[in-house]
Amino acid sequence: MNDALTFRPATAEDAELLAEMERQTIAHPWPLSAVASHLTSPVGEGLLLLCGGRPAGYLLLRVIPPEFEVLRVGVLPSLRRRGLGQALLRRALSDLRDRGCTDGYLEVRVSNAAALALYRRLGWVGCGARPRYYTDPVEDALCMRLRLPPQRQDGD
Ligand SMILES: CC(C)(COP(=O)(O)OP(=O)(O)OC[C@H]1O[C@@H](n2cnc3c(N)ncnc32)[C@H](O)[C@@H]1OP(=O)(O)O)[C@@H](O)C(=O)NCCC(=O)NCCS
Repeated sequence: MNDALTFRPATAEDAELLAEMERQTIAHPWPLSAVASHLTSPVGEGLLLLCGGRPAGYLLLRVIPPEFEVLRVGVLPSLRRRGLGQALLRRALSDLRDRGCTDGYLEVRVSNAAALALYRRLGWVGCGARPRYYTDPVEDALCMRLRLPPQRQDGD
């Protein structure tokens, strides 16, 4: 099987695909309308990870340099613990750094051990809490932050 990993930006035409991946991936998926609205927003971006040419994971971001926010990250359940989530985030962080982004933010359910471990592994640190931020079930959010080193200069 060809397991080569490739990445491509998500466009508005990918809204249905991403909404379906949300349903397969996350307990509280964004509806199609929310995904479509995100992908048509001037500050909304998406990145798709393909494994052997098939959609395997995705990332949704809000980007307003020098800041960015990770809104969603998901890897299909059958493909987890193979480094795909890490590959997605690393690719996005490298691109964001090249675009002059230095400060990343996100929120995560305090019980989401997999996401928390992934973020921490990539250098994200806790920077606050939002009590009872989530519903169904009600749960606190941990706010996390990542500082990216400044943009590479020619000759670096
Ligand atoms: C979070 C998520 C994207 C991780 O994707 P993944 O491809 O399985 O992650 P990786 O294989 O790249 O894991 C990288 C590291 O993260 C940590 N990690 C990932 N899943 C973990 C788990 N279930 N338990 C503990 N640590 C975990 C580990 O440190 C792991 O490295 P290792 O496998 O060498 O130990 C995936 O579990 C997922 O899609 N979850 C549902 C969606 C979600 O909750 N998204 C976050 C909120 S939007």
